[in-house]
Amino acid sequence: MKVRILGTAAGGGVPQWNCACPQCTVARRTGAARTQDCLAVSANGSHWHLVNASPDLRVQILAAPDMVPGPGRRDTPVRGVLLTDAELDHTLGLLALREGAKLDVYGSAPVLLALDDCFPIRRIMGPYGSTRWHEVVAGEPFELSDGLQVRAVPLGAKRPRYAADQPARDDWVLAYRFADPVTGSALLYAPCLAEWTPAFGSALKGVSQLVVDGSFYHQDEMIRTAGWAPSSRDMGHLPISESLEALAAHPGLRCLYTHVNNTNPVLDPHSAERDAVRAAGADVATEGHELEL
Ligand code: MLT
Ligand code: MN
Ligand code: ZN
Repeated sequence: MKVRILGTAAGGGVPQWNCACPQCTVARRTGAARTQDCLAVSANGSHWHLVNASPDLRVQILAAPDMVPGPGRRDTPVRGVLLTDAELDHTLGLLALREGAKLDVYGSAPVLLALDDCFPIRRIMGPYGSTRWHEVVAGEPFELSDGLQVRAVPLGAKRPRYAADQPARDDWVLAYRFADPVTGSALLYAPCLAEWTPAFGSALKGVSQLVVDGSFYHQDEMIRTAGWAPSSRDMGHLPISESLEALAAHPGLRCLYTHVNNTNPVLDPHSAERDAVRAAGADVATEGHELEL
C-alpha cells in the first residue's frame, strides 16, 4: 500500500488567511506553510483514493507525481474520496473535483444526508459529472476498486456547525482502517479524534501506521494562545499531550500527527512539545511525504 500525505493542517491552514498570530506570521515569512489535512491511499500507485477533500485539494494533487492525469485527456488516477466527517475543511474540495467522471464518494449516513440537505453539495455536483455516493456503515468492511480493504470506526457525534441542529449519531465522525490484502499491512487514519476509546484502541490491532488528530497539543491551548474559551476536548480534538499517553500502550506502532492547528506549538521544530512528540517515537506529518506499507 502506498500512502501520500497531501495536507497536514487543521481548518484554515498555516498561515490562515486572516491570522496574525506568531506562528502564522512566521509561516508567512519563511514559507513554511501547511495545507489543510488530506491523505491519499493506493494499493498499487496507479489508482488513488483520497481521504477527505480539503479546500487545498487542487494544489495538493498538482504536487503529487502519481496523480498526473493521462493517458486519455481526462483520465485520472484519482478514483474516489472517503469522508471522515462532513466538516467544511474535509468536504469543500469535492467541488474542485466536479469535472471528474465516475468519482466514488464514501461517507456515513448522517454525513451523506448533511451533504444533501444542510450543505447540498450532492445536488450542486449532480449536473457536472457522475459522482456515485456510497453509504459507509461503521464496522462493515468494504473494498475499494484497487483491492484495498476498508473498515470504518465510529468516533462520535460531533457535527459541523452548519449541521448543529441535526440528530446525534455516533458515526458523524469516522476513522478509516485500510488494509492491503497482499502485504498484510494496515493504516488507520483518524484526523478528528475526540477520545481514545477502548474501541479505537482495538481498531489499532494489526495496524503498523497511525495518522491521527494533532489539532492541539494542550487541552487549554486556545485559552493560552488566543484568550478564547473552548478546550481542545470541547472542540472534539483529543490533545496530543493525552494521545501520547495512550500511544505508550502500543509499542511499535508508528504515529504521525496531522490536522495541526496554527496554535499548536509542535509546528515549531525546536519547541519542547515537538521534542516530547519525538521522544515518544512519533512525529508531525510532513506534506508530500509518501509511505510504503
Ligand atoms: C474542526 O476540525 O474542529 C472543524 O473543522 C472546525 C471548523 O473548521 O469548523
Ligand atoms: Mn477540521
Ligand atoms: Zn494563526
